[in-house]
Amino acid sequence: MGIAILGTGAYLPERVVTNQDLEKIVDTTDEWIRTRTGISTRHIGGQGDETYLLAARAAANALQMAEVSAGEIDLIIVATISSHMLMPSCACFVQKELGANRAFAFDINAACSGFVYALDLADKYIQADPSKKILVIGAEALSSRTNWEDRNTCILFGDGAGAVILGYVEGSRGIMGSKLFSDGKLWSLLHMHTAPSCNPELLQSGNPGVHIVMEGREVFKYAVKAMEEAILALLEQEQVVLDAIKLIIPHQANIRILNNLVERLGISAEKVFINVQKYGNTSAASIPIALDEANRDSRVEAGDIVLLCSFGGGFTWGATLIRW
Ligand code: UT7
Repeated sequence: MGIAILGTGAYLPERVVTNQDLEKIVDTTDEWIRTRTGISTRHIGGQGDETYLLAARAAANALQMAEVSAGEIDLIIVATISSHMLMPSCACFVQKELGANRAFAFDINAACSGFVYALDLADKYIQADPSKKILVIGAEALSSRTNWEDRNTCILFGDGAGAVILGYVEGSRGIMGSKLFSDGKLWSLLHMHTAPSCNPELLQSGNPGVHIVMEGREVFKYAVKAMEEAILALLEQEQVVLDAIKLIIPHQANIRILNNLVERLGISAEKVFINVQKYGNTSAASIPIALDEANRDSRVEAGDIVLLCSFGGGFTWGATLIRW
């Protein structure tokens, strides 16, 4: 038996913001952004692009590919750090939007690793009850959590959503295993406060507000090492050799992190899927968006072994192996 991805989908807001657009609002250049990050453009949402709407549109595309109706979904898990409300969850809004009336729904927060964590959770639910069909989404409107005066971070992020439908299938297809890690001691290197309440102590200058704060150089060092370690630990756990992997789909944060990973693993660059140049860092959405693109472009085909790996705030990191 296998617990397989039956369909993938993605949705990006229409508005494309270029590096040249950002040159007009912060002290930066297209050249700096491209050479230090690999990013050329990112999609930024506007009115009508709340996180749950991006999520629901990605989900509709995945349902269509899987030939599964919204009414057949038993559980909706949304990985996000930028829901438009803290309560109800983004997943409950997605349920309402899709009319997935039989499902129960909740969000998880594991920052950029949220999709990989959610996939593992869904895998365990279906192992316990193979009749279940689960919708797993990574969705972010990070433009609403970005300090647009901070050139260190505002050039990095984008909005978007990606989704998969998971279900039990006969045969050897499906999720082979995962390895997940966290280290809360390092939280301050990459974090975001909650929305200010009416507590008067928050109404002061120096209140950090609701946006991403990052020590980029430090995060970079941890990200490369942690993703390599997660990959090697998972390969050992599943007794799979690197050569057997058709495609690695990593979290898309910075092309230099991915080039570094290629070097450390000693693999060919073609083995690593990269689309950070188009979308920037979309946190929990980046892996499912990339997975959908790789799937629709036939970069992965039946029987191929695909490896997902992530690193993000928390710190959280991990990897998942899938036989496609
Ligand atoms: O998704 C979760 C995980 N997140 C990540 O993995 C992100 C990891 N970090 C990174 O991707 C990189 O560290 C950044 C892209 C954020 C920054 O690149 P860097 O090569 O580490 O640059 P830096 O922070 O060391 O800054 C180098 C210089 C500094 O100037 P000085 O102090 O050397 O004069 C910065 O002030 O570049 C300056 N700088 C900029 N210059 C032009 C920083 N941001 C910009 C900018 N435009 N946008």
